[in-house]
Amino acid sequence: MASRNHFSHRVQQYGKNPEVLHAEGCTLLVAGEAMDEQEAEDQERYTDPGAAPYGNFPNYYSFNPPENRVSLVPPGFLSNLLQKSGVSPSPILCLDVGCNSGDLSVAFYKHLQPCEPSDEPMDVHFLCCDIDADLIDKAQASNPFPKSISYVTSDIMDSSDPGGPIRNFLDGFNRSTFDLGFCMSITMWIHLNHGDQGLIDFLNRVTKFCDYLLIEPQPWKCYRQAARRLRKLGRPDFDHFHTLSIRGNMAKRITSMLTHGGNAKLIHRFGTTNWGRSLLLFQVNRPAK
Ligand SMILES: C[S@@+](CC[C@H](N)C(=O)[O-])C[C@H]1O[C@@H](n2cnc3c(N)ncnc32)[C@H](O)[C@@H]1O
Repeated sequence: MASRNHFSHRVQQYGKNPEVLHAEGCTLLVAGEAMDEQEAEDQERYTDPGAAPYGNFPNYYSFNPPENRVSLVPPGFLSNLLQKSGVSPSPILCLDVGCNSGDLSVAFYKHLQPCEPSDEPMDVHFLCCDIDADLIDKAQASNPFPKSISYVTSDIMDSSDPGGPIRNFLDGFNRSTFDLGFCMSITMWIHLNHGDQGLIDFLNRVTKFCDYLLIEPQPWKCYRQAARRLRKLGRPDFDHFHTLSIRGNMAKRITSMLTHGGNAKLIHRFGTTNWGRSLLLFQVNRPAK
């Protein structure tokens, strides 16, 4: 049985919130080591997942460093896909939905740049949005590329503001779509908070705005564990958990939702992260102009 001291040691070792991973509903793997149930129980005394109902964990990247996912994408893969030719090619535009404090956005921005410093840098602009204004403040305060990465507080599900900052950003470049959208570890939070229809609306929205989509869906076991944690803490369930009919193999379900009717096609799987999540790349089909 893991002692409180043992857990405190973990806290010192890994930061203040080692619960992040478990709160997000998955077995905690730190440096390749799986946390056992008892350690997870110990964590619960220190955690309040009710404080992060959207997955808006304040220290997310202490537990899920960007490299865990970026390293699955071979260098040059995305930039070759997105490379534009022409006399004055328009910049590559990327949308990161649910960017948290921006660490992964910055890592992907760097990943899109050429490996060789002698090569011409890619003209890439990111719009990164998150529902949590504190996380956006944090991202803005530590933004190493303020000319190329913009952060904005925005709820992607806010239907009273269709487009909103996303549309404004695109208008600034005289464009109607982003080249690439990132939906990393956000689908479960949209699904739990907005139900099946919310997930459908979310996928429709990002498909409308992005020509390619990199999606990292949380597996179903994460939903069950996230809900179980709330129950154990005596908090009300997620609004929609019991009524979700889209369940099971979430990577497969999301793939068929996107590809059904020919809206998009799955063009690459980048393997599985050490949190057991697939990284899926879709190309959105647009009617010929
Ligand atoms: C688990 S974190 C993942 C962060 C980042 N995408 C990554 O994979 O490293 C989920 C993020 O999605 C954000 N989020 C959840 N629902 C959202 C919404 N409706 N609109 C915008 N952001 C949202 C949360 O605030 C949180 O920062």
